[in-house]
Amino acid sequence: MVHVIVLGAAAGGGFPQWNCACDQCQSAFHSARSFTQSSLAVSADGEHWFLLNASPDLRQQILNTPALHPQPQAGKRHSPVVGAVLTNADVDHVTGLLTLRESHPLAIYASQRVLGVLHANSIFNVLNPQYVQRCPLALDQPVTLCLPDGRPAGLTVEAFCVPGKIALWLEDPTAANYGSVPEDTIALKVSDADGNSFFYIPGCASLPPELADRLRGAELVFFDGTTYTDDEMIAHGLGSKTAARMGHMAMSGPEGSLAAFADLQVARKIYIHINNSNPVWTPGSAARCAVESAGWQVAHDGLEVRV
Ligand code: MLT
Ligand code: MN
Ligand code: ZN
Repeated sequence: MVHVIVLGAAAGGGFPQWNCACDQCQSAFHSARSFTQSSLAVSADGEHWFLLNASPDLRQQILNTPALHPQPQAGKRHSPVVGAVLTNADVDHVTGLLTLRESHPLAIYASQRVLGVLHANSIFNVLNPQYVQRCPLALDQPVTLCLPDGRPAGLTVEAFCVPGKIALWLEDPTAANYGSVPEDTIALKVSDADGNSFFYIPGCASLPPELADRLRGAELVFFDGTTYTDDEMIAHGLGSKTAARMGHMAMSGPEGSLAAFADLQVARKIYIHINNSNPVWTPGSAARCAVESAGWQVAHDGLEVRV
């Protein structure tokens, strides 16, 4: 069985976002209803947990999640967190690594491209290289996740490229697609030894036929829920970028994820990485009703799922 805990359901910035005075964020500030930034925790045994992406809110997420608290019987320094698997180099997915400083054994898995980004930024050396292994994820083949001592953790991940874009902070404005290469955005299929599996795809710009075929009939998919409409940030006066410009597919519209998943027979579909501009945050909104009637669930921090 694979245990999954949603550590953070929101996209970069979280919900509410620190500097956002939009109606939805204001109501979240006033109700103290909040959601942290994009991350899952997964485990085969309930004892050893891998982070899927490491959010800037990681410390708060660990405080909120008893399964991730240190166990005193295991010694004065202990954490159930044994590693992290990264899907891109976005701020909301890598900066949590800095919370995991300093001399603590961990295994970090990412594409060669994203490992190169970490390597180029010496601040990530606060994860003491003597203790923290950086493991390149081979693409399109199952990779056994190992504990820092080398024993298998009972999980495999298959990483594959999905349509997307280089991290915003690494964009080259003069290059085609801002200098993106396919490995900039990967998705993960996480499986246990019995073949139970789920997909984690927090960033995805479109669903070409080969990706649709891969997901058809899946037990569980966590999927990019950044925006409901492609231009909602512009329409609400919150920014100048469409979802497509940010490397995300909107939920609604003929090119959106609701339409793309309609015939894929995925047993359980959960939106994750939801931007603070997305009206699905508001229970009872037309957008929330539309996604729920299409069989989707909107993730929330602390949601636990087993497959
Ligand atoms: C994204 O998901 O597009 C990024 O997290 C955006 C950002 O870094 O603000
Ligand atoms: Mn993001
Ligand atoms: Zn807002």
